[in-house]
Amino acid sequence: MTGQKTSGSGVKKGSSGRSYKSKAGLTRQPRKMRGLKPSSQRWLTRQLNDPYVAETQSRGLRSRAAIKLEQMDDKHQFLKPHMRVVDLGCAPGGWLQVVSKRCRLDAGHGALVGIDLLETEPLGGATIILGDITEPDMLTAVHRAIGGSANAVLSDMAASTTGHRSTDHLRTMALLELAIDFTIEVLEPGGIFLAKAFRGGADNDIMQLLNKQFEKVRYLKPAASRAESVETYLLATGFRGAVLDEREDDTQKA
Ligand SMILES: C[S@@+](CC[C@H](N)C(=O)[O-])C[C@H]1O[C@@H](n2cnc3c(N)ncnc32)[C@H](O)[C@@H]1O
Repeated sequence: MTGQKTSGSGVKKGSSGRSYKSKAGLTRQPRKMRGLKPSSQRWLTRQLNDPYVAETQSRGLRSRAAIKLEQMDDKHQFLKPHMRVVDLGCAPGGWLQVVSKRCRLDAGHGALVGIDLLETEPLGGATIILGDITEPDMLTAVHRAIGGSANAVLSDMAASTTGHRSTDHLRTMALLELAIDFTIEVLEPGGIFLAKAFRGGADNDIMQLLNKQFEKVRYLKPAASRAESVETYLLATGFRGAVLDEREDDTQKA
């Protein structure tokens, strides 16, 4: 059969040479692979063998990313009951599910606002805003929805990847900068900021800015974030309260 080999042990293998048998002895569905490009076959094989994909489905989570947030919070415990939280880039809503549960928003305290360019299915207790975080009236809408300032801003924002590593890196870093600017406007002193970044790190300007605005900044790599992925997260705690940004200062002097 095209694209399949049979090893000495009689186990069928795909064109990549990978066995369709899982560790549990179950045979994967090679039929799903037919007609797919090798890159799509690799993606599908990874999905089929990824325990976090199975966990996402069995627990009814909206995204695999939800497990990353849980793992980071299990270790660093930044989500507290009744917090007011803003989730930038919230679709399809996995992080919203985790925040809603861990901050116990169902009890009527705290607040949760999610923003995304894409539609997000409604979630009880959360206000979802469809749009770009850079829209001029977005800050006002968020302040109104949470009734003041936030205790936490989370950003899992990602641009669609091009496959060109340095372009993707630059686009993610540009979103990180936008998220920081947004955060400075909505976070209350003592608040926390968690955002997707890239290994290789935020550039010096971004780290300097975060170190100035927050008491502590660290990189996190949850187990569910694939080891081969350059994705990391930045956790900044102890917001000092809108310390003047030198980039603005320089503009004003110019
Ligand atoms: C990795 S997904 C977020 C997954 C989400 N944390 C979850 O658990 O379901 C990244 C999201 O960022 C959104 N995004 C990217 N740029 C944005 C922007 N400028 N404003 C709002 N959302 C944005 C994308 O539309 C995408 O849905």
